[in-house]
Amino acid sequence: MKISVIGTGYVGLVTGTCLAETGNEVVCVDIDEEKIKKMSSGEVPIYEPHLDVLFERNIKANRLQFSTSLEEGLNHGEIIFLALPTPDNGSGAADLSFVLEVADQIGKLITEYKVIVDKSTVPVGTTEKVREVIEKHSGCKFDVVSNPEFLREGFAVDDFLKPERIVIGSSSEKATELMRKLYKPFVRSGNPIIVMDEKSAELTKYAANAFLATRITFMNEIANYCEKVGADVDKVRIGIGTDSRIGKRFLFPGIGYGGSCFPKDVKALHNSGKEVSYDFEILDAVIRVNKNQKQALLPKINKYFQGDLKGKTFAIWGLAFKPETDDIREAPSIEIINNLLDEGSKINAFDPEAMTNVKNKLGDKINFASSMYDALQDADALIICTEWSIFRTPDFNKIRNKLVNNVIFDGRNLYDIQDIEKEQITYFSIGRKD
Ligand code: UGA
Repeated sequence: MKISVIGTGYVGLVTGTCLAETGNEVVCVDIDEEKIKKMSSGEVPIYEPHLDVLFERNIKANRLQFSTSLEEGLNHGEIIFLALPTPDNGSGAADLSFVLEVADQIGKLITEYKVIVDKSTVPVGTTEKVREVIEKHSGCKFDVVSNPEFLREGFAVDDFLKPERIVIGSSSEKATELMRKLYKPFVRSGNPIIVMDEKSAELTKYAANAFLATRITFMNEIANYCEKVGADVDKVRIGIGTDSRIGKRFLFPGIGYGGSCFPKDVKALHNSGKEVSYDFEILDAVIRVNKNQKQALLPKINKYFQGDLKGKTFAIWGLAFKPETDDIREAPSIEIINNLLDEGSKINAFDPEAMTNVKNKLGDKINFASSMYDALQDADALIICTEWSIFRTPDFNKIRNKLVNNVIFDGRNLYDIQDIEKEQITYFSIGRKD
């Protein structure tokens, strides 16, 4: 099939590349000329495991092409994916201006039947709005469907190629059939293509992210309570996770959720509620608890150093909001670093992928180490912010030799308490015995 993807951010790029992988002819459109030039020469603009291999293969096979011309993109595809940004508009709601501007252009430019697919995370009712905007100008037939994406950064290629489900919000049989045909190769395992009305599809995306964020936040509160009463949150996690109604995944406590999705989507859903006079009380609490959770290590650090953080040097392992990505949006590490800098501390940071992004954000306010062990040199303590695999089985001798004080503040509960006790390292984590 001929597919166009408008917007080559993280979602657009993964969508375009993976759709090319099953033999479709894909044109990806973006207004950023520099980016298009780089991608045309085979350069992947984001760090996402396995994307580079697929990218190269499909460019070579001429199935994946790039353009800065929206008109070219619209002429090419029978299915047009909108993968445009929907950032926070400053008051917690999703800014739809990118989506609606492109819809306006679509209305002016299409000359034959197209299926317009909303892949961006958009508030309930946006598919309808997009349809209205296109209708204003367009004389030809078209359909607009909602097809939210559930990709996780770091696992996006796998999630796209083997989705647990595909959700399609559509009121047109013709469009639904085209979408089914497009996704058929991806659901050979038997996982479902779920077709529903557009509004329910749009809400499914928000509800999924808000539910997961709530689940994590609930566990973070249980962890905080564990610390007060001397229980161990890891044991509680295993204890409840074996109940199949609860399940084992996404119960890991830590220093809060971050990234480009959960924080934005929880706020946007909370905000959409207000627009129809519905107060999402639970989401209000999730937002507040998560904000505090990002600071959860600070009282422990302060207590250990008796409030005297001035001139202390902290090694930070992990800057990305989670492993397998270079994304630092809403990353707890940034909050912790800024707090410590305010206290007059120095920072030696290491992350396998995210250091360039942090350098762009914080400049020379902190030092960047060339390895995880270099970051420890003469540091007073180690703080772990991201659970990269490389941090899970470190050489504790090196840690002891390099740190001034043998103390680790772990925001991701990487080590077993019994193991770390043997290493004679003072260890603070989340929701467990210090
Ligand atoms: C999330 C969803 O998981 C995807 O399904 C969705 O498509 C995506 O948002 C999106 O809307 O685009 P992502 O933000 O890439 O994906 O990352 P997750 O793996 O979901 O992690 C989100 C945050 O939750 C991270 O900060 C992570 O550290 C935290 N987390 C996750 C926990 O604190 N505990 C857990 O048990 C799991």
